[in-house]
Amino acid sequence: MDAIPVSQSEHWNGTSGNAWVDLRETLDDMFRGIETLLVEGLDTGQRVLDVGCGTGGATLAVARRTGHATGVDISAPMIAVAQATAAATGVPAQFLCADASQYSFAPASFDALVSRFGVMFFDDPVAAFANLRLAVRSGGTLRFFAWRTAEENPFMTAAERAVGAQLPPQPPRKADDPGQFSFADARRVHGILAAAGWRDIRIDPRDVACVFPQRDLERYATMMGPVGRALPRLDAAERAAIVPQAEAAFAPFVDGDSVRYTAACWDVTATAP
Ligand SMILES: C[S@@+](CC[C@H](N)C(=O)[O-])C[C@H]1O[C@@H](n2cnc3c(N)ncnc32)[C@H](O)[C@@H]1O
Repeated sequence: MDAIPVSQSEHWNGTSGNAWVDLRETLDDMFRGIETLLVEGLDTGQRVLDVGCGTGGATLAVARRTGHATGVDISAPMIAVAQATAAATGVPAQFLCADASQYSFAPASFDALVSRFGVMFFDDPVAAFANLRLAVRSGGTLRFFAWRTAEENPFMTAAERAVGAQLPPQPPRKADDPGQFSFADARRVHGILAAAGWRDIRIDPRDVACVFPQRDLERYATMMGPVGRALPRLDAAERAAIVPQAEAAFAPFVDGDSVRYTAACWDVTATAP
């Protein structure tokens, strides 16, 4: 069996990126509350960069608010969808496929950076946030949402807790390794931003209600996260045994024809000096 990809570029240009493309409507619906919070903080005319923009749902919402927005993401399949959606809808947004941690943005070319769960994946987060700071004018702002701990977000780990023991072993992960929960420790996040030169750092807990149709649950349960990455590597009989168990793990979150959970997040803001 092939090793499971570990670099973030492989990850987001492979199975995980394709899953986000396939499930983009479900995920955009699910995270609408976070999109709303990000958009409400912006004004018409601001030059905004959405970091780790994925398939661009939040970027387009920002562009509708401000008049224009730019999204950057390391995933070619996700950026292709974002570009196609902008073209099809006529929303004034542009998209760039690049590693945001290293890309040479024009200095001070943005008034605000935003991100919905797109900044927890940098190999060197201090260098990445220092690079991003240079893209923002003096006095410009940073605002992003990141996950608090896995324990506070049981929905997110329901499938892997239920069937993880039946899946091929995954590479061991340390808490600070790039990944979904790598910003769970607020003190660490504060340290990263301060070392990267950001000021006026605030890290507030925010619980956001998330909902999506129950009919999308099987696809969500079997395509996302470690389970989604492992299942394609199993044979048909193994998959057939695991898929119902993965879906059943979400039973506590099913409410009629909807799935509901709370996203336990950090709402992080900072200013460029
Ligand atoms: C959890 S997804 C969130 C996507 C999007 N913000 C949303 O809410 O739909 C994380 C995103 O970060 C992107 N990403 C990871 N590392 C990156 C990097 N170094 N530069 C740019 N994007 C990156 C991934 O490709 C992925 O699209």
